[in-house]
Amino acid sequence: MTIASIVLAAGKGTRMRSKLPKVLHPLAGKPMVWHALEAVNGLTDLAPVLVVGYKAEAIREAMGPSSQYVFQEEQLGTGHAVACTRSLLEGKSDTLLVTFGDMPLLRKESLEKLIQIHQQADSPVTMTSFIGDEARGFGRVVRNEKGEVIAIVEQVDATPEQLAIREYNVSAYCFAADWLWNALEKIPVSPKGEYYLTDVVGLAVAEGYAIQSLVLEDPVEAIGINSRVHLATAEKILRQRINEYWMVEGVTLIDPDTTYIEASVSIGRDTVIQPNTHLRGLTVIGEDCEIGPDTTVTDTKVGDRARLISSTLESAILEDDVSMGPYCHLRKGAYLANGVHLGNYAEVKESYLGQQTKLGHFSYIGNAKIGSNVNIGAGTITCNFDGKKKNPTEIGDDVFIGSDTMLVAPVKIGDRAVTAAGAVVTRDVPPDTLVVGVPAKEKRKLEKSD
Ligand code: UD1
Ligand code: CA
Repeated sequence: MTIASIVLAAGKGTRMRSKLPKVLHPLAGKPMVWHALEAVNGLTDLAPVLVVGYKAEAIREAMGPSSQYVFQEEQLGTGHAVACTRSLLEGKSDTLLVTFGDMPLLRKESLEKLIQIHQQADSPVTMTSFIGDEARGFGRVVRNEKGEVIAIVEQVDATPEQLAIREYNVSAYCFAADWLWNALEKIPVSPKGEYYLTDVVGLAVAEGYAIQSLVLEDPVEAIGINSRVHLATAEKILRQRINEYWMVEGVTLIDPDTTYIEASVSIGRDTVIQPNTHLRGLTVIGEDCEIGPDTTVTDTKVGDRARLISSTLESAILEDDVSMGPYCHLRKGAYLANGVHLGNYAEVKESYLGQQTKLGHFSYIGNAKIGSNVNIGAGTITCNFDGKKKNPTEIGDDVFIGSDTMLVAPVKIGDRAVTAAGAVVTRDVPPDTLVVGVPAKEKRKLEKSD
């Protein structure tokens, strides 16, 4: 059996009131439709087919070549949307899994069950439903007195008795492909001019098939996003799922309610996440770290045993045993080797800091390459910008930079050199040399034991 999957995402999402197509609104740091694709990922034999219409190019650009795309020019209904994939998929697979791009909470496990039920059933249609108290515009699942599914009726078309039904259509289906391609042609047009995918259920019943429905145990999975209120609800649920996942994996979250971990982050065992911490993008955190409180880490790789307090890190790399904070800011291209320590108010950008280098207080380091065991005194600044371009600073190993030193780049400081407090260094300093003053001048050579 080969399985193909179709994810519908051509609608505009009017109620989002947004320039962005609905399915590109982010949830847990990824576009909504990414979650729908993630749920089918691994269940099918072909790349998933996304049906796009409104702002199709934006969706294609965001989701890239891991999906196939079919353009639905006019949104003539869910049945029409599936029919648009026919020329691409007919003859390519015998089973079709159909889901919606605006249902990011549907779990892979549920779709696995749906496929299983479909494989065992003797029917060309297998559907998904849930029992709940909130109708939210869902289609109603109509059953006969024997409890067999006979139709799905859309809320707008339902009779008062049908409106009272509490079993709702989720909109996740498994179909026998050949049967579906034919059935789609038989869907009648609705009074509003739409072709409902739901009508194929009635068609299968009319042909004498018994329809199985996977009834979801957790109705939360069926939440579809139509507005920003639903978006916030889904965000919260996804956040809880992600947090629980990491706790099960061996990460301590002191306060899961204020811990925000995006879907693409990974965290090592025995790491402790303190409150108000955001881990975003492609961040990787090692083992035995303590992150937070009040820390935001984006697209950053953090080694083992890091200690980060009240800091913001973006596109940086930290080796092991790095400590920083409070109030440090690592920007793009900051690389901190093993054992680096940053005290309060340090900003580091496009710079390499060697092993065990310490930068205790109030400093800006930009476009610098700093060796190991360097002590950088309070208030040191790399003056890297001359008004036109960025210039590099190089500092060797075992250097002592006195407090309030201005390193006017481009400039090089040799191994074991020392700058006195308040030095404004405008020229290169040779190794083993003490420089003093404004502009800094050589005061004397240093013995290696100094
Ligand atoms: C649909 C179901 C309903 C179910 C509900 C669950 C139908 C007719 N109804 O209703 O039984 O309870 O989902 O959420 O299927 N789309 C297209 N092209 C179109 C129309 C829709 O791609 O021409 C896409 C939309 O982008 C969206 C999805 O299909 O991702 C659902 O469309 P929507 O109009 O929201 O259907 P519902 O009214 O929610
Ligand atoms: Ca919907």
